[in-house]
Amino acid sequence: MKKNLLILLLLLAAQFAKADEGMWLPYLLGQQVYNDMVKKGLKLTKEQLYSINQASLKDAIIIFGGGCTGEIVSNQGLIFTNHHCGYDAIATASSVEHNYLKNGFYALDKQQEIPAKGLSVQFLVRVDDVTKQVQDALKGMSGQERQQQQQKIVADIITQAINGTNYEAKVLPMFKGNQYLLFVYERYKDIRLVGAPPESIGKFGGDTDNWEWPRHTGDFSIFRVYADKDGKPAEYAAGNQPLKPKHFLPVSIKGIKENDYAMIFGYPGGTNRYESSEGVKLKITVENPSVVALRSVRLKYMFEQMKKDPAIKLKLASSYAGIANYWKFFDGETKQLVKYNVLEEKQKQEAAFEKWAQGKDEYANIFPDYAASYKAWTPYAKHRIYINEGIMGSPLAAFAGSLMAVEKALVQSGTSTDMIKQSIQAADKARTAFLEEEDKASDQKILAATCHLFYTDIPLAQHPIGFYDAIKAKFGSLEDDNTYRLWASALMSGSMILNDARWKAFIANPDAVTLQTDPAFAYSSAFIKNFTTKYQPLYNQFVTKNNDLGRAYLKGRMEMEPAKKWYPDANFSMRLTYGQVKPYAPRDAVAYDYVCTMKGVMEKYVPGDYEFDLPENYVSLYNKKDFGQYKDLRKNDIVTCFITTNDITGGNSGSPVLNANGELIGLAFDGNYEALSHKIQFDAVYNRTICVDIRYVLWCVDKLGGASNIINELKLIK
Ligand code: ARG
Repeated sequence: MKKNLLILLLLLAAQFAKADEGMWLPYLLGQQVYNDMVKKGLKLTKEQLYSINQASLKDAIIIFGGGCTGEIVSNQGLIFTNHHCGYDAIATASSVEHNYLKNGFYALDKQQEIPAKGLSVQFLVRVDDVTKQVQDALKGMSGQERQQQQQKIVADIITQAINGTNYEAKVLPMFKGNQYLLFVYERYKDIRLVGAPPESIGKFGGDTDNWEWPRHTGDFSIFRVYADKDGKPAEYAAGNQPLKPKHFLPVSIKGIKENDYAMIFGYPGGTNRYESSEGVKLKITVENPSVVALRSVRLKYMFEQMKKDPAIKLKLASSYAGIANYWKFFDGETKQLVKYNVLEEKQKQEAAFEKWAQGKDEYANIFPDYAASYKAWTPYAKHRIYINEGIMGSPLAAFAGSLMAVEKALVQSGTSTDMIKQSIQAADKARTAFLEEEDKASDQKILAATCHLFYTDIPLAQHPIGFYDAIKAKFGSLEDDNTYRLWASALMSGSMILNDARWKAFIANPDAVTLQTDPAFAYSSAFIKNFTTKYQPLYNQFVTKNNDLGRAYLKGRMEMEPAKKWYPDANFSMRLTYGQVKPYAPRDAVAYDYVCTMKGVMEKYVPGDYEFDLPENYVSLYNKKDFGQYKDLRKNDIVTCFITTNDITGGNSGSPVLNANGELIGLAFDGNYEALSHKIQFDAVYNRTICVDIRYVLWCVDKLGGASNIINELKLIK
């Protein structure tokens, strides 16, 4: 009987493909974890994954821009990343006449590459464990004192680490401050755009398909990193040379099959897997719904204008995509957290912990303290979101708010004329950048709508004193949409920010009163000051308290389950996750394949559609079945995307998906809808990573784009 049960269990385990939780630190890879990787198929040594003495995989992985991952794929510094990671650079390089976002772009030689101003990439130089140094300095401290001291010791460690080098460094707390690691980076600033598919491929499926499987998006773009003649970072210069990297990834076009080993290196931005039940409750009841509601409004007005005019589409495209991406995410996250009863599960975990912690002073009162901390903050939680995502959701209001730095320089006694001049110059530069991206029509509607929503949704007692009364006196009933429309229109025509002559007069002769009476500035600063003076201190207290509680709770949890393999929350430091290529069943009676093909692209194709259109030659090329060396033999088609059981999150976008030999088989670009709870709790059954198959990338570059020069630069494994 027992034996039969065991066999049954083994059968069950084999049948239900489990996703693979864990964002591991490659520099501290435990033997147990490494052994498991080998068991799943890995053919590389630990040293080949990460080494500071010799070239290793980690040397091919870069931070791309401010929040993505990229990888080096040739000995001349060629970079692959996602289309949505290169999106801003592609849009910026585009004009209505040379619309690379719409039509795609390939440099057929290095001369044609386009400098991506402002874009940089970072290589990881080394990682040191500085836990002892930090903890010695923080011994016995908590709350604000601890925070201040931590800032100090961290600054010291960084200064020491980069002294006399061109490196940058940061110290990141791991396990909620139970460990501290120092990361040293080298940043390269001459980055050039090499290629991108038309947006209809790179963002095929748009927001409808975003965060969903099955998927048919060719989410890739190509850049190159340049260095000075010594291979060192340098500002853009025509004479710079392509960087000779320490390591680059070979590209396998052998294809994938179910259960194949898959490993992803990259920079997951943030998770909160050890979050408390109180935190989950606030998130699903207040924070997420507020963000979603406010973003819906902003997106609606932006989209109205983008549809009308290709120039406005180019202007707003990148900002729109970013807002839309996490609008859908937060909405889905709430739904999945509720569906999987994550709140109740966390409560159960906490109850078990409390039982274990009985009699242990260090862990007494964690949950009553959590409850008190949340109780004190919750009445203001919505207000904070309405400032960040509502009031500041108007680009004009956000820019006007940034002028508070100028106000400070003007009113603070003892500020030198030089300092005032500097702050005016910075503001003038920022204004130029703001105006380049500003679309007044949508902004005016956003301004009106968000100001109204704040009035309706935030308790009266929390409003900036007198603000809404003044609107009422001048423009009419505060319940009426039209009042806010009139107000917003008057604000826009009255602000010097949108009037060159008046702005120039102001910066030539800056004075506080002119700034303070500017209607845009007055609006923003009223809300910001109201929040920062009355509620920000409460928020800081809340965060500090939660940090202390979270650190203690996680320390206790690790003590309680010492045999478990623990990994720290994502915090935009390099991680690796390993798993396998696997299908899944999203719901009763539905089974998803682990690959999608071009056949499916054709099925979704809607000529002229905003999200599901295709470039002209795509259809004819598909009909010719000219797949070349990129064809998948099992499907007799091109595989566009595939899924794996890997554990990733935002920030991993663009990350290399590697086979057992460390060869590139795809780029990770998304997570699936059924696992949108993943930042808070990993779901072993449903979690999948969505990857664009490298063979589709190369087909797009080669057959569709005609850029064989790029293919020739790669080391193909056939
Ligand atoms: N969900 C993807 C991520 O966060 C981004 C996909 C961008 N595409 C889009 N339709 N917005 O990595």
